[in-house]
Amino acid sequence: MEPTAYPVNDFGPAMRGMVIGAVGILHVFLAQFAIGGGFVMTYFQWLAGRGVPDARRFLDSFFTYLVLISFVTGAMTGVAMWLTTIQVGPRTIGLMVDEFHWIWATEWCCFTVEIVAGYMFLRFGARLPDRVRLRLLAIYSLASFGSLFWVNGILSWQLTPGAWVGSGDVWAGFFNPSFWPSLLYRTAVASTLGALAAIAIINAMDLDRARKHALIARAARLLVPMAAMPLLGLWFVAVIPADSRAWLTGGSVAMSMFLALAAGASLLLGAYAVVGIWWRRMFVSGATAALLLALAFGATAAGEFVREGARKPYTIRQVLFSNAIAPGEVARLRRDGSVTGDPYPLRDAGRYPTEQLALGARVVRLQCLACHTMKGANALVHLGGGWSIEQLRLNIAKLQQTKAFMPPFAGPASEVEAVAQLIRWEASGAPRQWPVSDDPAVLAQIAGWLDAAGTSATPPQVRKP
Ligand code: HEC
Repeated sequence: MEPTAYPVNDFGPAMRGMVIGAVGILHVFLAQFAIGGGFVMTYFQWLAGRGVPDARRFLDSFFTYLVLISFVTGAMTGVAMWLTTIQVGPRTIGLMVDEFHWIWATEWCCFTVEIVAGYMFLRFGARLPDRVRLRLLAIYSLASFGSLFWVNGILSWQLTPGAWVGSGDVWAGFFNPSFWPSLLYRTAVASTLGALAAIAIINAMDLDRARKHALIARAARLLVPMAAMPLLGLWFVAVIPADSRAWLTGGSVAMSMFLALAAGASLLLGAYAVVGIWWRRMFVSGATAALLLALAFGATAAGEFVREGARKPYTIRQVLFSNAIAPGEVARLRRDGSVTGDPYPLRDAGRYPTEQLALGARVVRLQCLACHTMKGANALVHLGGGWSIEQLRLNIAKLQQTKAFMPPFAGPASEVEAVAQLIRWEASGAPRQWPVSDDPAVLAQIAGWLDAAGTSATPPQVRKP
């Protein structure tokens, strides 16, 4: 299959990776929230069945305000994920669907059960006896946890495809090395989010202090799994490949920073839970609860950023680079050209005064725009526009050595030159006249650099202590 088989969408100044990242973070947060909400409701329904005062009242407020919001928006952002991912990474998602269609179908069954159970509870819950309500909520919780279980295998496979790479065995891919740590970690996060939201709602309820206390003390029990998060986090970091781990432990400043941010925000949350809620038996005001949830959102966002980032330069490790080119295709594309068969017209094709610049635009669209834009986020013009043309040529030809987050350049010397010229042209304000650069000596020099860099990715340097 040609890497140019699918059209790629252009989101203007927003980078493709950022678009999918933003939708993904929101979706993960809401979906984990919906799962934790299920735990909270099942637990409180069980308490209500045992005659704990106010448990049933709490349930009714909690359900209408929160779970409904997270479950409707969670479902909508889930659809948004599909719509975005088929535009941003059609080849990646195509391969994932190819490999895991039955697992995805199973996940959708869980999701359907979750929606039906949630809806039945909304529609008939008030009229049902406690025993039936408990069953309905238990089904809701199990089904929502089931969707996490199934989708977690597919997502963790992207970073640690494990033995699947050699055997192609679906179960080896599903129960891959990071399956358990990431499932347990996400479950702990879901429980924490549910508990925090429950505490916020209890505070807003019209009850006296002592009765609120009694409910908050119960809800805080769902914060207990949070204590395992540091260990689960370490387990996750221990099973990911050494080169991905190197990104997190100093190989990439941004990624180490985000990891620290995620850990810091989670620690703050944990400290607050222990000191504030258990030990001092404090009330959590609406504002504090909102702040805690914002911290939790920050931790989720930073954590997802790290998980996505640790995969670079791959979307599926060892199988597809971030720009949807497979490692085994690079050598052929170096020979035949990466966009030779590209059937899709350029947007604003008339802008480019020469064929060479239009070729550069096609190559950039295929090979660079997953992680860069021309002039917006992580802009090529800002990064390389000030460099001399020689330096641009060298750094693009040796792309994987310029920054190890980048895949190897997958085209011949003429495409390197076209990209270098395009960046210079854009940086010069896109003039109507631009000379064509086709000096054979220059192309021969670039070809030498391409050969020297080779066709595989560079593992990041592990920092020496
Ligand atoms: C997997 C994602 C990814 C892909 C694909 C990618 N880059 Fe990059 N590139 C990065 C990241 C991340 C940086 C670092 C940005 C920074 O330092 O702020 C970077 C940096 C650069 C820089 C500046 C390097 C430096 O030393 O300052 C240039 C030039 C560049 N990229 C060009 C390209 C070109 C041309 C392509 C396509 C042929 C490309 N990149 C493809 C992720 C990518």
